[in-house]
Amino acid sequence: MGPGVPTEAVEAFMEKVLGDYAGASAFFMAGIGDRLGLFKDLAASGAATSPELAARTGLQERYLREWLAGMAAAGYLSYQPDTGRYALPAEHAPVLAEEAGRFFLGCAFFGYSTNYGQTFHRLLGAFREGGGVPQDLFGEERVESIDRFTAPWFEHLLVPEWLPAMPDVLAKLQAGATVADIGCGRGRAVIKLARAFPACSIVGYDLYQPAVVAARSRAAAAGLCDRVRFEVRDVVQGLPQRYDVVTTFDVVHDSADPRGLLRAIHDGLAPDGRYLCVDITCSERPEDNVGPLSAVRYGLSLAYCMTVSLAEGGAGLGTLGLPEAKLTELASETGFSQVRRVPIEDPFNTLYVLTP
Ligand SMILES: C[S@@+](CC[C@H](N)C(=O)[O-])C[C@H]1O[C@@H](n2cnc3c(N)ncnc32)[C@H](O)[C@@H]1O
Repeated sequence: MGPGVPTEAVEAFMEKVLGDYAGASAFFMAGIGDRLGLFKDLAASGAATSPELAARTGLQERYLREWLAGMAAAGYLSYQPDTGRYALPAEHAPVLAEEAGRFFLGCAFFGYSTNYGQTFHRLLGAFREGGGVPQDLFGEERVESIDRFTAPWFEHLLVPEWLPAMPDVLAKLQAGATVADIGCGRGRAVIKLARAFPACSIVGYDLYQPAVVAARSRAAAAGLCDRVRFEVRDVVQGLPQRYDVVTTFDVVHDSADPRGLLRAIHDGLAPDGRYLCVDITCSERPEDNVGPLSAVRYGLSLAYCMTVSLAEGGAGLGTLGLPEAKLTELASETGFSQVRRVPIEDPFNTLYVLTP
C-alpha cells in the first residue's frame, strides 16, 4: 500500500468490490434460474422445498438445494424456516418471471451470461491482437436474449407511448404506409406494428439469418404473412425500394458501418418519409455515463456490441457510442435535413425522428 493512503479508504473500496462480487454471483445464479424456468415455476406453483422443486421440475435435488439457498442469500427468494420452503416474493415475480411484461429483466442481465464463458477468451485475444468476437460465436441464445430484452419496449411502449409522441410518424402509419424495420431481429416490433396498423405493409430486414427464420415463423403464427415479410439483407448495401417509414430499434450503435447504414436509410426513404431511430440513452461526456446502468452498458459493450462490430472491421461505436451529438453528425454527413429528439424521457432509450 502506498505511503499516506488511508486504510479506511482502502477498506471502503474493498467493500464496494465485494458488493460487486455479490452482484455478479447473484447474476450467475439468477441466470441458471432463468434458463431452467425456476422463477417461473415458483411463480406459477408457489413456494417449494428442494425435494418439492425437484419433483416439479425433474431437476437434480442437490443442485436445487444449493441454488435455492443461494438465491435466498442474495435476496431474490425468501425462506420460510418453519416449512423449509423457498418462495418467490410477489413483488419479484414481474421482474423475474413475467416474460415480456413491462418490468421483466429475466434475460437482460442473465441471458448474455450464458454466452460469456464461450466468448471470454476470444475477447481477451481481441484486447491483445485487435479484431473482435464474431456474431456467430454468440449463437442463437444471444439473439434470443436480445429479443427477450427488448420485448417490453414493443409490448408496452411502442404503440401506446412512443408513437403518440411523434404525430407525423403516427399519421403515416394510420394512413397506411410502406414500412421497413432494419435490424429486425426476431421481428417482434414488425408484428406489433402490423397488428396496430392494419393498412401498413411491413418488411423486416436483418443480416443474421437465424433471426430472420425465427421472425418468419412468428409472422406465420400471427397470421400476418399477407402484409408482413422478412428478408436476410445487409442494409448497408442499400434498400430495394423506397419506404414511407423506416425504423431501427437498438441497431445503429451495433452496426459495423453506421455511416453506411444511415446513408442507405436516407436513400431508401420516400421524399416525405420519416426515419425513427431508437438507440441507447447516453451522453458524449464520459463523466456523465457513470453509475450502475452505465457500468452494465460498458460491460455489454465489451461483451457484445463493440466487439461484434470490430470483428467485422467495423466502427465499433459501442453500446454508449451513439449519443445525440454523434447521431446528428452522422445524419448530416449522410444527407438528412433534420434530426428531432422525441420528447420522451426514458433511462434506456432515446428516440429520434429523422427527415431526409
Ligand atoms: C441489438 S439487435 C436489435 C434487434 C431488434 N431490433 C430488437 O430490438 O430486438 C441489432 C440487430 O441489427 C442487425 N443488424 C446490424 N447491422 C445490420 C445491417 N447492416 N443490416 C441488417 N441488419 C443489421 C443485427 O443482426 C441484430 O439482429
